[in-house]
Amino acid sequence: MPSDNDLPPMKAQDYSEVEDWPGYFTAVLGKEARETLLAALDLFAQEGRIGGFAIDLAAGEGRDTLELLKRGWQVVATDGHPDAFSHLWPRVPEASKHRLTTVQEDFAEMQVRDCDLVNASFALPFCPPQHFPGLWCKIVASIRPGGRFAGQFFGVRDTWASLPGRSHHSREEVLRLLEGFEIERMREEERVDPPEVRNPKHWQIFHVVARKPNVP
Ligand SMILES: C[S@@+](CC[C@H](N)C(=O)[O-])C[C@H]1O[C@@H](n2cnc3c(N)ncnc32)[C@H](O)[C@@H]1O
Repeated sequence: MPSDNDLPPMKAQDYSEVEDWPGYFTAVLGKEARETLLAALDLFAQEGRIGGFAIDLAAGEGRDTLELLKRGWQVVATDGHPDAFSHLWPRVPEASKHRLTTVQEDFAEMQVRDCDLVNASFALPFCPPQHFPGLWCKIVASIRPGGRFAGQFFGVRDTWASLPGRSHHSREEVLRLLEGFEIERMREEERVDPPEVRNPKHWQIFHVVARKPNVP
């Protein structure tokens, strides 16, 4: 019987699998912002829009929040776990602190304020399915015309789709959720972990950036 010491070290995905969020925050601390956020910010910049008001939903230790602040955005960062913010606040430059509000909130009760961007990086799959439709409706309603959604959905072929309390979607379901948006980025990633990973899994991820059209 192999002991825990014989296994490969725990990585971010191992903590995510068991929803050990303090372990996850430590594992990803200091990593760069997500590609979907960077793509959304570039698209705003191409329109001459530098800064705005963003909700960073389930922001975790704050990799994306820090990028938003760096680019001049005002940010409300939410997360269900209080440790998220104790990792984030010490890394926020003094001059940016007035542009950040942190709110400890569960997906079930989340208040999504009117904003230019809802950023939900690797967040929505962890919303229990009974709360997903309500949360998604709030996200859609909160994004102003000309605003964007950036984030990930996990597919139904992803190994974690069988875990209780997770929200996974087929490509068709993702497209249905995004009806009414202009889809600017939709990268489907499907791959299997190499065997040296502690707990190899099949990944199916949709990386999305979508824009709510302006009112005619
Ligand atoms: C995989 S992490 C992603 C964090 C960050 N957005 C990132 O890209 O690294 C998932 C996040 O969802 C949060 N979360 C999990 N369940 C939640 C819930 N029921 N309500 C609110 N947040 C939750 C966790 O605390 C964690 O920060």
